[in-house]
Amino acid sequence: MGLLGSSSSCSSLVAVVLVLNVAVVCNGGKTSTFVRKVEIGNDMPLDSDVFQIPSGYNAPQQVHITQGDHVGKAVIVSWVTVDEPGSSTVNYWSENSKEKKQAQGKVVTYKFTNYTSGFIHHTTIRKLKFSTKYYYEVGIGHTPRQFWFTTPPEVGPDVPYTFGLIGDLGQTFDSNMTLTHYELNPQKGKTVLYVGDLSYADRYPNHDNVRWDTWGRFVERSVAYQPWIWTAGNHEIDFVPEIGETKPFKPYTHRYHVPYKASNSTAPFWYSIKRASAYIIVLASYSAYGTYTPQYKWLEAELQKVDRTETPWLIVLMHAPWYNSYNHHYMEGETMRVTFEKWFVDKKVDVVFAGHVHAYERSNHVSGVYSTGIGHKGALPLRRSL
Ligand SMILES: *[C@@H]1O[C@H](CO)[C@@H](O)[C@H](O)[C@H]1NC(C)=O
Ligand SMILES: *[C@@H]1O[C@H](CO)[C@@H](O)[C@H](O)[C@H]1NC(C)=O
Ligand SMILES: *[C@@H]1O[C@H](CO)[C@@H](O)[C@H](O)[C@H]1NC(C)=O
Ligand SMILES: [Fe+2]
Repeated sequence: MGLLGSSSSCSSLVAVVLVLNVAVVCNGGKTSTFVRKVEIGNDMPLDSDVFQIPSGYNAPQQVHITQGDHVGKAVIVSWVTVDEPGSSTVNYWSENSKEKKQAQGKVVTYKFTNYTSGFIHHTTIRKLKFSTKYYYEVGIGHTPRQFWFTTPPEVGPDVPYTFGLIGDLGQTFDSNMTLTHYELNPQKGKTVLYVGDLSYADRYPNHDNVRWDTWGRFVERSVAYQPWIWTAGNHEIDFVPEIGETKPFKPYTHRYHVPYKASNSTAPFWYSIKRASAYIIVLASYSAYGTYTPQYKWLEAELQKVDRTETPWLIVLMHAPWYNSYNHHYMEGETMRVTFEKWFVDKKVDVVFAGHVHAYERSNHVSGVYSTGIGHKGALPLRRSL
């Protein structure tokens, strides 16, 4: 059982904290006095403080981490260098041992019409100990930069853990406020469940991928220190045949790696992880999910693997919500709901988080459009707050 913490949302965004903890029944109620603005905010200009390029030759920038295996003993470290490829090595050491270990990774680049990316490094650190603080260093040989993260407790039913929830962040002045709200939340989220729509670079001519770089620098202050669990949204599709860009998700898949092979997924858009007391399934609103498709077959098999005595919490992330009372994006999630909802009810999914609609809304359990009016063991009793 658990309790949903405070929420704050700025014009297009949501940042809440979910505490998986002791048996507290909470009446959702109204948890914030925040009222969002109606207008869409302006993007922060390129010379904003949050986009500052770290100084030093070939200094790593846009550093970000995510879970790197199925259970939380591995971390994928990613970053970008711009002057030359440089080293993909990560030096790391636990708080209590000064002996540095090394992990090797690889570097990728991509072109997007007339934009050429920097050198994007992805290195997985494995065999970490649970509940341990590690320091890590990237930029070896040129301009090293140091960060840290704490691994989750071993997967099990009785391990409290606090997730943050953010979606549709973008890079407006409001985005910066949302991230600040998350950072200042007294519940102190340890991992962000990110429900899609990252940079909104696709709002610019040619989807100016410079705005993917600025976004990476903007969120580094959080995601270099705690994993963000990625979900692909519509703003990650970047399908622009008019300018010859016909391979969907190109910038997203080059920049953001996820541990999809660890859950036997065949594509990075749908996968699962276990973290502390939660089993988290990430679904792809913009990949095929009809009967017989790879995502459908994967999810069908995946749901059988969830053991509630090990992970009492079953959480699903997706971008397009199945339920939404706003007119914007209304019913865009409907075909996926029709396809998968019965499985969710059968498997007693505790909570589904989605993004896409830029307003905070939550509900009690619903299925088949109407509220079931019933909870179940381990369920989170929620109410509409708006
Ligand atoms: C790419 O083309 C766009 C539109 O013509 C232009 O604004 C931008 O500066 C170009 N970028 C590069 C890196 O050449
Ligand atoms: C973003 O927020 C931080 C505080 O969290 C502040 O220091 C910074 O000046 C803000 N930048 C912009 C461009 O709003
Ligand atoms: C993935 O498949 C392999 C081979 O069938 C199996 O051993 C492994 O347990 C599976 N992993 C997960 C997380 O389902
Ligand atoms: Fe969206």
